[in-house]
Amino acid sequence: MPLEGEIVILREEQPEDMPLLTALRNDLETQAWSKTLPPDYTDTMHMKRFQDREYSHDPLEGRFIMIARASGEFVGSISYTGLKPRWSATIGLMLEKKFWGTGLAFDAQETLLKFLFMELGLRVIRLFTNSGNPRAVGLAEKAGFKIAARQRQAIFKNGEVFDNLIMDLLREEYFSHHPQLVDNLPPLS
Ligand SMILES: CC(C)(COP(=O)(O)OP(=O)(O)OC[C@H]1O[C@@H](n2cnc3c(N)ncnc32)[C@H](O)[C@@H]1OP(=O)(O)O)[C@@H](O)C(=O)NCCC(=O)NCCS
Repeated sequence: MPLEGEIVILREEQPEDMPLLTALRNDLETQAWSKTLPPDYTDTMHMKRFQDREYSHDPLEGRFIMIARASGEFVGSISYTGLKPRWSATIGLMLEKKFWGTGLAFDAQETLLKFLFMELGLRVIRLFTNSGNPRAVGLAEKAGFKIAARQRQAIFKNGEVFDNLIMDLLREEYFSHHPQLVDNLPPLS
């Protein structure tokens, strides 16, 4: 069942999405960063990851395709991984460049955060980015994320050195950012 945002819909991946994911991953602008240069992701790799999923009532990750409500177009992908049930998960997202600055990224991120805090009852969401990615940092800060750890001079990209950033958003921070939502879980202490 898709997660419904205001201007974006997050639906499950389908085999026909794989070439679009490969293209996003192999474009140095639309991927977050690559550990291999030039990036060499293939449709086969994405299809293998897709097919290797196990049926589970308790999946530890979720990968979604962002669809623009207005046009039905493929916008990008957003995921949570490394789920520690009732505790934490890491999110990541990437959009086709023509959709940058349209508000779709923020809506997709808000939609996934609402699911993770309200439905999965998580206490903290994390994401990884770097100081050379001001859009990703700005998008995260707009949702209330803070820089929790900075690994200095950890990344060499486009001939420049950047810091690795771990950003996080605590449950209480999320709910104070959304006063219209009620947190029905008991506080930790
Ligand atoms: C990161 C990414 C998802 C951001 O999406 P986006 O559509 O570019 O985001 P937006 O332009 O809507 O920016 C969101 C917020 O970030 C901030 N922001 C945007 N550009 C910024 C910049 N150059 N400097 C500082 N802040 C910036 C603003 O607060 C903005 O909110 P506003 O539009 O209300 O002013 C997109 O750029 C992308 O797919 N990048 C490649 C993959 C990636 O880096 N993923 C993140 C890894 S966690």
